[in-house]
Amino acid sequence: MSPVGVYCLLFISVSVCYWVPAGCYANGKVSKACGSMEPHHGASGQTTHSPYRLETNTTTFSPTDRIQVILSGTTYFEGFLLEARDAATHATASTVGTFTLTNPMRTQLLTCNKHQGSAVSHKSDARQTEVVVIWNAPTDAPRQVQFFVTVVAHYNKFWVKLPGPIIYQNGVTPHPPQSDTTPHPVPTTTPSDLPGPFTSEGCGQSKSCLLDPSGCDPKEDPHCFFLSMATEGPGNTSVIFELSGPVEGYIAFALSWDTWMGNDDVYMCVKEGHRVSVRAAFVSGRTHPEDQSQSGLSSVSWRLADGMIQCRFSRPIKLSNQDPARYDLDQEYFLFLANGYAQHGNIWRHSHQPLISTKRKNITGTPEVLRSSRGPIIMKIHGALMLLAWMLTGSVGTFIASFYKPDWPNQTLLGQKVWFQVHRVLMLLTVTLTVVAFCLPFFYRKGWSKHAGVHPYLGCCVLALSLIQPIMAVIRPSPDSHRRYVFNWAHWGVGSLTEIMAVAAMFLGMRQSSLLLPQPWATHVLIGYVMWLASFRIFLLMHKHLYIKKSQESDDTQGILSDQSEHRHWGSFIKSLILAVLALGNAGLLMALLSSIAEI
Ligand SMILES: *[C@@H]1O[C@H](CO)[C@@H](O)[C@H](O)[C@H]1NC(C)=O
Ligand SMILES: *[C@@H]1O[C@H](CO)[C@@H](O)[C@H](O)[C@H]1NC(C)=O
Ligand SMILES: *[C@@H]1O[C@H](CO)[C@@H](O)[C@H](O)[C@H]1NC(C)=O
Repeated sequence: MSPVGVYCLLFISVSVCYWVPAGCYANGKVSKACGSMEPHHGASGQTTHSPYRLETNTTTFSPTDRIQVILSGTTYFEGFLLEARDAATHATASTVGTFTLTNPMRTQLLTCNKHQGSAVSHKSDARQTEVVVIWNAPTDAPRQVQFFVTVVAHYNKFWVKLPGPIIYQNGVTPHPPQSDTTPHPVPTTTPSDLPGPFTSEGCGQSKSCLLDPSGCDPKEDPHCFFLSMATEGPGNTSVIFELSGPVEGYIAFALSWDTWMGNDDVYMCVKEGHRVSVRAAFVSGRTHPEDQSQSGLSSVSWRLADGMIQCRFSRPIKLSNQDPARYDLDQEYFLFLANGYAQHGNIWRHSHQPLISTKRKNITGTPEVLRSSRGPIIMKIHGALMLLAWMLTGSVGTFIASFYKPDWPNQTLLGQKVWFQVHRVLMLLTVTLTVVAFCLPFFYRKGWSKHAGVHPYLGCCVLALSLIQPIMAVIRPSPDSHRRYVFNWAHWGVGSLTEIMAVAAMFLGMRQSSLLLPQPWATHVLIGYVMWLASFRIFLLMHKHLYIKKSQESDDTQGILSDQSEHRHWGSFIKSLILAVLALGNAGLLMALLSSIAEI
């Protein structure tokens, strides 16, 4: 493999789901772009009128005819990709026919959809202004064939899938060609064959469904994500899929052997202008799906309305051509439902965590309503443990050290002061929970997540500081040492800093795509928690000052001793009550968040 090739592979595997740099395709080996015809050059295609023209030497053809196709420009171009497609279904269709080169020095044949020679591209990025090739009409040609070309003037200046002439099979009355270049006014509903939204009626009886939020009906609720599948056709030999959701760019589902992205058979409905294209692809790793054979998909229909993308297509249970990327449908798979942004038919990484069925489903098996979740269980445990650590054990443990040192002066617990024992146990528990919870996302992501923003950095700081605290506590000077105050301040300072960072990490954590709690509800709960905690702190700080003042005053005035101790007893009872209320309140807010983690 050439160094460029190695670099490309490396780049693709590193830049999960992003673009491939221009240098990669200077050799014109652009088979990956067969389906979308996008050059993957990092920029988006030009929308202005192009200086290039595609012509044929005839407007009609018969099977096995040879037709001259000419790409010319008033200015030079460095690269191109030329294909012929069924004019009726060009958005979804695969290539039609094959090409023959007239200038093999400058052009080369590509294999698209496993058809040798079904597309033509440049051989180097040398500038040219005209390319002539011959298109060979196949014996099973559709009635109308249209040529499409992507032309690259310079690597970030290119026109994608420019529509060329339509040629008609002899004996077929020509229809006025549909041109992609004339700008349409944006209609609210683009006409198409689907009459209206899908319905979840019949889910569990005649079809299997995946619904998010669970139990929703796309007919009633435009925010419903919907996937259904049902066997159909003579002898139930194919499966009809219906897919819809409130998405801008694309919605897709995948058949997967496991709950990880990778080695998945993917079906995508991608918005391209005012159309929807339906494509099959294969995801080999945590990477961009590779355009694969579009064959096997039939009865494709779609609809764009009410902010929803809908599509429906049928696929045979087993495909005859033994394509390893197209899985048999009479097996059990986890189902993924993902959506995201798309531009010019090019899809980007899914914008939030895919919905994943909780168990494997035999696609042709008995109809059922599948349970599903967007929160991977490992990430749920991570969130739950962190919240438990920092909303309950950590905050109560800190509270006790801050305000309860003078309380319970005459009792000991296992030979130590009560506050100290409780503080130590709670904080060790907090550190343990933090360490365990910290590791989980790394198991899940199998490394560092580049898409998680500041949250993981805050997490690392919290972990490091949490580990420093017990070490500092173990090597602290004795209480009567003159350096003890250094420890006291450092322990308090580091502890407070850790708590602040932990709270910030919680705010960011509940917005992570892998554990997206309902917003703004979850943020409000956390704000409530911060205010709850702050009000207790302020109250106890005031109490502490008043108490010290009062006890100083009573020392001065030599108050009656019994009265004093009763007063102290009463005060201690109130403070214990306050601690209990604080802990209960924290636990309540924690439970609210935990229950929403359980639900996603
Ligand atoms: C178009 O060009 C091809 C290839 O040169 C040739 O075989 C064919 O006869 C031409 N057709 C017409 C109508 O000129
Ligand atoms: C096809 O499947 C449906 C339900 O899945 C079943 O009711 C019907 O009998 C099947 N038809 C054939 C021909 O197998
Ligand atoms: C899936 O269901 C079909 C039809 O009910 C059955 O023929 C097939 O054996 C099942 N596959 C598995 C792996 O259970």
